Amino acid sequence: MANLFFENSTRTKFSFEVAAKRLGAHVLNFNESNSSVSKGESLYDTLKTFESFGVDTAIVRHSDDYFIESIKDKFKFSVVNAGAGEIQHPSQSLLDVFTLYEEFKKLEGLTIAICGDIKFSRVAKSDIEIFGLLKMKVLLCGPESLIPKQENLPSHCEITTINKAAKEADAIIFLRVQHERHQMFELDIKDYNENFGLNDKLMKKIKKDSIIMHPGPVNRDIEITSHLVECEQSRIFKQMENGVYTRMAILDWLKPQR
Ligand code: CP
Repeated sequence: MANLFFENSTRTKFSFEVAAKRLGAHVLNFNESNSSVSKGESLYDTLKTFESFGVDTAIVRHSDDYFIESIKDKFKFSVVNAGAGEIQHPSQSLLDVFTLYEEFKKLEGLTIAICGDIKFSRVAKSDIEIFGLLKMKVLLCGPESLIPKQENLPSHCEITTINKAAKEADAIIFLRVQHERHQMFELDIKDYNENFGLNDKLMKKIKKDSIIMHPGPVNRDIEITSHLVECEQSRIFKQMENGVYTRMAILDWLKPQR
């Protein structure tokens, strides 16, 4: 298996590595910054190089929304989407679903709130898609500049306030503020935690049997007040553990038939 990350990662990259090693695979870890891409080698030639090595599965992350789609079926290896620009993060969504199923022993009928930087979040887009397929209701909240318009959303999604989301949701997924993708405007980060983050005041409004999630990495004291990151209702590190099992399942499903 080759981990081909053209964008930074900790959780996805290393959980795929742990998953592959637990399944007995050999793992090649590629970093664009210290590779021959920095000498001008094209991405096509880079991928051809890994094909020449006999790689069966390539785990690919790229900042371009459509790069991963564009290489599908062009090489002898299977391609796994480990994060496509701002539009898809399917393995994260599968681990989110697994974490929810483990908690509630069902999926259909659950109400999940997604709060924060939805505009730039590939996790939000993949979660919205999979939650809809599984007949779950989605509440969306966040700064007006970072959430879509109701008319552009599928019917299982509803824009709401963070206080309503806290009262109604079985799980609230807080999203990382993606400063690196905010090219056109500055967000007022000073008041973010107070208005859209998990803080002590909001914690009191959240249902006692609901859970807190975040795909990571967490900007502590922005999306979540630091001491709440590991509170009793948090499943943030459980999500990371479940990322290994989920990615083991993905790799097992793709097992090369040699
Ligand atoms: N959740 C997630 O994709 O984290 P990384 O960017 O660290 O892989």
